[in-house]
Amino acid sequence: MNHHTALTDLIPARLPLLQAPMAGAQGSNLALAVCAAGGVGGLPAAMLSPEALRAELQLLRQQAQGPWNVNFFCHTPPQPDDAVEARWREVLRPFYDEAGIDPASVPAGAGRVPFSHAVADVVEPFAPPVVSFHFGLPAPNLLERVKSWGSRVLSSATTVEEALWLEAHGVDAVIAQGLEAGGHRGMFLSAELGTQLGTFALLPQVVAAVKLPVIAAGGIASADGVRAAMALGASGVQVGTAFLCCPEAGTSALHRAALMSEAARHTELTTLFSGRPARGIVNRLMRTLGSLNPAAPAFPLATAAVAPLRAHFEKLGRTDCTPLWSGQNASGCRAAPAAVILADLAKGLDAALSRSAGSASV
Ligand SMILES: Cc1cc2nc3c(=O)[nH]c(=O)nc-3n(C[C@H](O)[C@H](O)[C@H](O)COP(=O)(O)O)c2cc1C
Repeated sequence: MNHHTALTDLIPARLPLLQAPMAGAQGSNLALAVCAAGGVGGLPAAMLSPEALRAELQLLRQQAQGPWNVNFFCHTPPQPDDAVEARWREVLRPFYDEAGIDPASVPAGAGRVPFSHAVADVVEPFAPPVVSFHFGLPAPNLLERVKSWGSRVLSSATTVEEALWLEAHGVDAVIAQGLEAGGHRGMFLSAELGTQLGTFALLPQVVAAVKLPVIAAGGIASADGVRAAMALGASGVQVGTAFLCCPEAGTSALHRAALMSEAARHTELTTLFSGRPARGIVNRLMRTLGSLNPAAPAFPLATAAVAPLRAHFEKLGRTDCTPLWSGQNASGCRAAPAAVILADLAKGLDAALSRSAGSASV
């Protein structure tokens, strides 16, 4: 079956299917498995030290069968604010008391660094086939540096305005990230959640607005979902949540159990774990504090104060304070190899692409 689209012209994989890079949940193992099966595997780099990033890039360069993607965040780091941090710890105090943790003993810190020239120094020798960004794009000279390696550049748009902005600033393809998507919203032009659209409202509007190939993301977890996205004009599909229970992913046992339970039917956007809205399965911290509690410090500073609480409850086998990132549709999660998940998704391409080829020849 021919799976050729505008996206595979740009990124010559056998399938126009991307495995979403998922920071904290996977590394090169999952990416390599997806590449071997004909998709575009993704390495999330936002939480990797330079040494870990170099080691992962070496594995991808040596072993990847086909094009692979390395993904970075490009947020502007906020100024730490002692008063905001103190207020946040006050809001978390009942949890600290229950866990027997002295909030004063908990170090503050960032945890996620944006893409920079220092990070580019690590990446440059590997000239990744694809580099994708979340939260916009790096500064123009840094973006030019990435493009000078020959890397194809992708970034997420959550509104038509963001898609147009990304096109004007030089991406090669746009990822239309619908509101159903798991993990962080890639939103960068507005922080207003009311601007955010579901995948099948966003996708056709982005396809109509930009000339670039558009990749659909958010809530797609089956062949039918892929078929529907392609019918709405997508040139490819990016899937995250459905890969989280693959043996090649690094997802914790507690997170896997939650994804495969009825709890996964209730996700919300929350700022509690990082400071930016991200979608995860509702847990006790979210229920107690409210998922969008305004006391959470700006991204990524909210993370540090929650980290020891997460560790405390996880030791007890509980996810009270664990970010259980998941999209709204976890029905595709199975303890099956990534190649099996990808092959199932690819069945949606057969019908979609043969139909569009057929209608083109009429
Ligand atoms: C556990 C998890 C972590 C994620 N981390 C990242 C990340 O590091 N970088 C990124 O660009 N997107 C990240 N995302 C968002 C994905 O790129 C993508 O938009 C989303 O997975 C698509 O929706 P789906 O999960 O419903 O398939 C993450 C998603 C999940 C579920």
